[in-house]
Amino acid sequence: MRICRTKAELRAARTDLGLRGARIGLVPTMGYLHDGHLSLIRAARAETDRVIATIFVNPTQFGPTEDLASYPRDTDRDLALLRAENVDAVFLPEPGEMYAEDAETVVETTELAGVLIGALRPGHFRGVATVVTKLFNLTRPDRAYFGQKDYQQLCVIRRMVRDLDIGVEVRGMPTRRECDGLALSSRNVRLTAAARAQAPALYRALLAGQAALEAGRGVAAAQDAIRAALADADLALVRSVDIRDAQSLAQVPDRPDAPVVILLAVAFGDVLLIDNLVATPKRPA
Ligand code: PAJ
Repeated sequence: MRICRTKAELRAARTDLGLRGARIGLVPTMGYLHDGHLSLIRAARAETDRVIATIFVNPTQFGPTEDLASYPRDTDRDLALLRAENVDAVFLPEPGEMYAEDAETVVETTELAGVLIGALRPGHFRGVATVVTKLFNLTRPDRAYFGQKDYQQLCVIRRMVRDLDIGVEVRGMPTRRECDGLALSSRNVRLTAAARAQAPALYRALLAGQAALEAGRGVAAAQDAIRAALADADLALVRSVDIRDAQSLAQVPDRPDAPVVILLAVAFGDVLLIDNLVATPKRPA
């Protein structure tokens, strides 16, 4: 596995790996890898010839009061996991390598970046779109793999790739969960034991909302079912519960006639957990 710490090393690795028309799969991460990340690597491994992973805790997607400093890191463990998955190259830049001191160019999906998580975390999706564009430019992948766990992020990246004609195939992969339903996340290790015990309430709430919608009970009733399922988790601060069009993330009427996505953002102390589930509402008879 080639370990690239500079852009020049990464570009050289990309050139070598792409010889004879080999197809390149890219898996961008912020490290502290778990089975969700590895599922993306395995999909890339299965669908492309050469796999490049990146590990970069991107400062520009964290707000001034967010958890950049305390974001968990364990590079040695990550590298061992990537080696075990037969990853061909990994890019591990320092922030100073990634961004020039006077960098001022950004990529922004102007509407999508401001709603939902974007409203809770101003500037977050501008940071994501910009760094992912840079990673695309550095690695020129045929396919890039992202998790549906970060549903809005996936929508932002698809929109940006389409709008800017980036020419990469974006693959959105299913959310991997613990046995109790909690979506795998690098941030889960920062939950206290008591918060960890309550955190599966997110998935239960999503299932309750999905059941309500699929029974034809409408968006308002689904919202009530979701909030009721979260009520027992007394350590949880519900930041947002949204039911949106699964394609566009636009608002939907109470009786939607196309698939919707239920998006949850719940804070346990300073740990913000997000999760989502798609539902296909039953049409009124
Ligand atoms: P990170 O949170 O490390 O996630 C990297 C990728 O793993 C993302 O595409 C994310 O959706 C996916 N992922 C996370 N948890 C998952 C789970 N439980 N099941 C399946 N996939 C999961 O998302 C980022 O990093 C960054 O914003 C990044 C795209 C790397 C840009 O900095």
